[in-house]
Amino acid sequence: MSLKARYQEAFCVGATVNSRTIHTHGSLVAREFGSITCENEMKFGVVAPDGQHYDFTRPDAITAFAVANGLPMRMHTLLWHRQVPQAIFQNATRESLLGCLQGHIQTMARRYGEHVFACDVVNEVIADSAEKVCAGGLYRQSPWVEIIGEDFVDQAFTMAKAAMPQVKLFYNDYNECDRDKSRRICRLIQGMQTRGIPVEGLGLQCHWSVYGPSMDNLRHALDLYSRLGVELHVTEMDVSLYREAQSPVLACPTPELLERQAEVYGQAFEVFKQYSGLLTHVTTWGVADDATWLDNFPVRGRKDWPLLFDESHQPKPAWHRLMAP
Ligand code: GLA
Repeated sequence: MSLKARYQEAFCVGATVNSRTIHTHGSLVAREFGSITCENEMKFGVVAPDGQHYDFTRPDAITAFAVANGLPMRMHTLLWHRQVPQAIFQNATRESLLGCLQGHIQTMARRYGEHVFACDVVNEVIADSAEKVCAGGLYRQSPWVEIIGEDFVDQAFTMAKAAMPQVKLFYNDYNECDRDKSRRICRLIQGMQTRGIPVEGLGLQCHWSVYGPSMDNLRHALDLYSRLGVELHVTEMDVSLYREAQSPVLACPTPELLERQAEVYGQAFEVFKQYSGLLTHVTTWGVADDATWLDNFPVRGRKDWPLLFDESHQPKPAWHRLMAP
């Protein structure tokens, strides 16, 4: 049995891919996963590095892979402070930047709107800690909020709804289980709801480690988010074997750590199932341990093993745990 079949009654299990892994991991993705997200290729700074000239070659290839395999696709992401062409901020005014954002959203919607069912319209605008809040009682510092003003998120969602009305629109963020940050995330969504802004889903990245967050914090966060009444997607799950950047490099994943990782995935999926009325998708950030961003984050060149399949694409203890009856 596959992972997607095992969980189909609770939620759809997906994975992110890129224009390389659709070839190197394509059959594994098609066998085990029920949806895909482009890892980087649909981001503004990747698809149009100068902010004006678009090269659709790679997102087109990923879309063709999705269509050929009948895999629904999430769009990621339209407004973010990273992987964005810096040129768009130079000498920009509120009006010119709004025009640029609208142009980008319309371009992406025209090309991919019919192929995607959900979109992370806005990514990571909430400040990580109270001290880092720079505007609106909520936002991190970024050129978007500085130049456009505090309605930049509302504007992006309104533009996205007009450009692709049939696509479910999500706000997506990390540290989603942090008690302080989760309250700010809720305030953002509730504020948008009060103002009539079409936010329809909340994306929970879930970049975790075998050392945390605790399942108590996960449940606490999901209880909070459930009250918003929007659909919930786990959008970027991976479970690092390291506690932090300072942790010593591992030569290989020890059986103890792999067991602990299996425990985390297993417990988390059990919790996700308890919210399956609202939580409809769980996506891992990558497919197998031979291609993970964590090999270079937070420490460049430090190998990590955060996913459900190993470097040879074989199921890990975590996969077996998820498949257990
Ligand atoms: C964040 C972003 C993703 C990706 C990951 C790391 O979570 O939302 O697009 O860049 O970081 O790869």
